[in-house]
Amino acid sequence: MTPERVPPSVPAGLRWSAATSAFQIEGSRPTGSTGRSIWDDFLERPGAIIDGSTADPACDSYRHPEADVALAAGLGLDRYRFSIPWARVQPDGRGVGDKTALDHYSRLVDLLLEAGVAPFPTLFHWEMPSAVEVDGGWLERDTAERFADYVTIVADRLGDRVRQWYTLNEPAMTTLQGYAVGALAPGRQLLFGALPTAHHQLLAHARAASVLRERGASAVGLANNHTWVLPLHDTADDHQAAALYDLIHNRVFSEPLLTGTYPDLESLGLPPMPVRDGDLEEIGGSIDFYGINFYNPTTVTAAAEGSPIPFDIVPTPGAPVTGFGPEWPIVPGALRDLLVDLHARHPRLPPVIIGENGASFPEPPRAGRVDDTDRIAYLAGHLAAVGEAMAAGVPVEEYTVWSLLDNWEWADGYTQRFGLVHVDFETGERTPKASYDWYRDVIASARAAA
Ligand code: NOJ
Repeated sequence: MTPERVPPSVPAGLRWSAATSAFQIEGSRPTGSTGRSIWDDFLERPGAIIDGSTADPACDSYRHPEADVALAAGLGLDRYRFSIPWARVQPDGRGVGDKTALDHYSRLVDLLLEAGVAPFPTLFHWEMPSAVEVDGGWLERDTAERFADYVTIVADRLGDRVRQWYTLNEPAMTTLQGYAVGALAPGRQLLFGALPTAHHQLLAHARAASVLRERGASAVGLANNHTWVLPLHDTADDHQAAALYDLIHNRVFSEPLLTGTYPDLESLGLPPMPVRDGDLEEIGGSIDFYGINFYNPTTVTAAAEGSPIPFDIVPTPGAPVTGFGPEWPIVPGALRDLLVDLHARHPRLPPVIIGENGASFPEPPRAGRVDDTDRIAYLAGHLAAVGEAMAAGVPVEEYTVWSLLDNWEWADGYTQRFGLVHVDFETGERTPKASYDWYRDVIASARAAA
């Protein structure tokens, strides 16, 4: 690799990571009624998954965790972000932990530590036990208590070796895509009626954070999906539409954590959050780091009169796109703008961890070397944007590529490949792409410069 392909503006001192999630890579799904998650249910709905696929075998990682650990170690990662699925640990959504599952994740932690990579698990990457959803899922406050019980089981088993944890992955996607429009599990279509799920998730995160700290965790946070929202036209209506979208996608999830208050929802005609005394104090003091997953900006315009949702999401003019097409525009500077803006609004921002950043592009299904220069350009551009934000004073400490491996992309099945490593889903064969070598060299040269 030529040295100039390493972005010059990435300062030394950043920690390096890559991510996966259990449902997307593991396979070995349950065949009976126990241990099922809302995703096992959702993918059985006709038409829910674009290619009609299931997440089995995906990358078959449950049976072969060593292969993934070797790839993580080969990159020289400081940490590996993976997830532990609630539905495997508590197959009925309550009660004692499943020994086989706990043994499996304990072994994965040991494999990582032996390979010199610190484990950085996520405790909820969207796999709610079906039994919890039957009781109302995140619409119910009690789910926060049930989540804390599950987290207690995991922390009691792994807390002697795992010191840093993400509690939840992208609660905004669960609320917006899972409960408001139904594009992701559990597939509810409650529109703004989904907003209470935001509060119950943040409460669950805060309860889990206390459990983890009591068991010796040194750093607890969550991964918020953030987007940089742009109005399509410089008109009052489009600015208002953009402000509303920014509120429900970003600010509802950032402000309680960073300030201990919700933004004003009622003046925009939205229902109030089901907050009880003490909740906001708990949520406000609950993070040691602020996790941000970033993929693309979102351009918004005012919807036609009478539409059930007052905004439309539209293509970002002039932006190149990823494998998802105009839905996922590529604008690296949007990550810098978002970070600088967040820091300006919250000068006492805790250390920021980029918990996910990456892109899918059309790539062949069969095993073979992929020269993914488009992915390298995407990652280099975003790393440069992170460097610019750091130079402007934003306290970014870690950067994570989504994803270590090609995997099962939720409702998009196997049609979107995000990996640094190509996976042939028929044979399970893994082949590092050009971006894998590039990222390994970025990490090595950043370390050498430190
Ligand atoms: C967000 C999610 O955390 C992850 O599961 C997903 O695959 C990527 N973004 C890409 O969509």
